[in-house]
Amino acid sequence: MKETVLITGASSGIGLELAKCFAAEKSNLILVARNRAALETLAAELRRQHLIEVHIITADLARSESPQTIFDELKSRGTAVDVLVNNAGFGLHGRFAELPLSRQLEIIQVNVAALVALTGLFLPAMIEQMRGGILNVGSVAGFLPGPNMAVYYASKAFVQSFSEALFEELRGTDVCVTNLCPGPTESNFSKVARGHHTRAMQAAKMSATEVAAAGHRAFRAGQCVKVTGVKNLLLAQTTRILPRAVVRRAVGRYNKLK
Ligand SMILES: NC(=O)c1ccc[n+]([C@@H]2O[C@H](COP(=O)([O-])OP(=O)(O)OC[C@H]3O[C@@H](n4cnc5c(N)ncnc54)[C@H](OP(=O)(O)O)[C@@H]3O)[C@@H](O)[C@H]2O)c1
Repeated sequence: MKETVLITGASSGIGLELAKCFAAEKSNLILVARNRAALETLAAELRRQHLIEVHIITADLARSESPQTIFDELKSRGTAVDVLVNNAGFGLHGRFAELPLSRQLEIIQVNVAALVALTGLFLPAMIEQMRGGILNVGSVAGFLPGPNMAVYYASKAFVQSFSEALFEELRGTDVCVTNLCPGPTESNFSKVARGHHTRAMQAAKMSATEVAAAGHRAFRAGQCVKVTGVKNLLLAQTTRILPRAVVRRAVGRYNKLK
């Protein structure tokens, strides 16, 4: 039976490239984001190239009711989700106290609460059917405290911890959870985060295509955590052994707005 893959944040960047990876395997797709026009363009391209079914759901995951609405819509259509890709996310550069609190709470809603809610809604059926899995898009930021991007880094630390815990809980079920941890990647992320003048945003970036391919491979291989790129892997490892005070000062400088 053909697999159905739901991908959040499929309208651009890593999510859009992940959609192409799953489409190339002939999986049917459900693409979720707010930008309907971008989703329609991608859906038309993937249907034409791969002769697959692609369904679009426009939803704002900053709204707490969205995960349930998505789940209910698919249930009423009789569509089962075999693979869930929790990719939608964003961050904001700046000091916590100076950024709008409402926007920072939206980071938690999109990057954390929606990811947990969608997982909670779709995972039980995967376990019951003993197939499928979840690919969460975290970040190397999940390994670090992130001064000048505090809520974003903390949200990715949650994704890291949550994904690893689920991976362990699901041992022996044939359902896998992978946490993809990219470093700086070419996408709309820096435009949304408004940190154009930080060292972080001027860093050399991997392409979203490379990152998605690595994440897709890791998911298919049943890997728990995938850090993309050698530099990012070294960063994730060395920050584990360096004193925490050194790490947080360095990250603060890296994310500082000039
Ligand atoms: N780029 C990087 O350097 C980098 C590094 C590490 C991790 N990541 C992670 O990678 C993931 C994808 O980001 P990206 O780099 O590909 O950035 P991107 O090009 O800005 O893509 C973000 C995606 O998330 C969706 N999204 C954002 N807010 C949403 C909302 N309220 N409701 C529904 N969808 C929403 C966007 O769709 P709409 O705007 O159409 O809603 C878009 O499709 C994120 O989780 C990000 O944290 C990125």
